[in-house]
Amino acid sequence: MSTSSIGFVGTGAITEAMVRGLLAGSASATEIHLSPRSADIAARLAAEFPAVHVAKDNQEVVDRSTIVFLAIRPQIAREVIEALSFKPGQRVVSVVAATERQNLLDWIGADVQLVQAIPLPFVADRLGVTAIFPPDTDVAALFDTLGTAIQCETKKEYDLLAAASALMATYFGVMEFATDWLTEKGLERSKGHAYIARLFQSLAERAQRAGIDRFSDLSGEFATKGGLNEQVLADFDTGGGKAALNQALDRVLNRIEGMTD
Ligand SMILES: NC(=O)c1ccc[n+]([C@@H]2O[C@H](COP(=O)([O-])OP(=O)(O)OC[C@H]3O[C@@H](n4cnc5c(N)ncnc54)[C@H](OP(=O)(O)O)[C@@H]3O)[C@@H](O)[C@H]2O)c1
Repeated sequence: MSTSSIGFVGTGAITEAMVRGLLAGSASATEIHLSPRSADIAARLAAEFPAVHVAKDNQEVVDRSTIVFLAIRPQIAREVIEALSFKPGQRVVSVVAATERQNLLDWIGADVQLVQAIPLPFVADRLGVTAIFPPDTDVAALFDTLGTAIQCETKKEYDLLAAASALMATYFGVMEFATDWLTEKGLERSKGHAYIARLFQSLAERAQRAGIDRFSDLSGEFATKGGLNEQVLADFDTGGGKAALNQALDRVLNRIEGMTD
């Protein structure tokens, strides 16, 4: 999708990732307007991409954009958003974490089309998976150019995917624990690192092939009956691995729901 004019209020890490993704390859925005804070990032992007303009203030970003992204930290969201005037019907995408939808609407104070989204840093390489709520064809198309959009029908679905996004550090944690184990057992660390990184890359790529309905189909495919993979999965489960994962996800979901209810 090509959107004529996209604005970002808040030019931090996630805005930089989205702008890089939007302007990579076949650009999917003809104009991008950035708020002037974080002058170094804004200046870097403007120097690199002719489509990027640094606005004089946040209001100019809103005024010049058909889709406005709110990408400031939750602690200052109210102060920043309340100071702005939005056009009725304007599409506003909030990526501000842990902020209740009704609060955002109250602070915006106009009848806008508000969509919430959870972009991840991989959007910079157009490899992000982005949960959005509520469903919105145009915003989904935009995030599809940055990877894949998952449209949530309910806030519960959106909160569940927010909880799932908290698995990123654990993914790398499992890789690190396995590499630690290999090193402790005597393998040179760099070899263990290279092996684990490639192994997980292959597995992640395999999981995305069409026709895979359940990841357990893949566990079955890679685990010979009575073989080593089957043994490790069974030990992980009986050793409390699955229970620990469920408990961690329950706790993070409670935290997300507690912050946004
Ligand atoms: N990073 C991620 O992977 C990620 C993913 C999904 C959602 N989010 C959410 O996205 C939001 C931004 O996160 P981030 O990681 O990009 O944070 P960040 O790097 O700290 O960026 C926040 C930006 O807001 C700017 N800012 C501060 N006061 C402002 C104001 N009055 N007007 C306009 N801009 C102002 C900051 O400028 P200064 O540097 O000059 O203070 C900074 O550039 C947060 O709500 C976060 O929860 C982040």
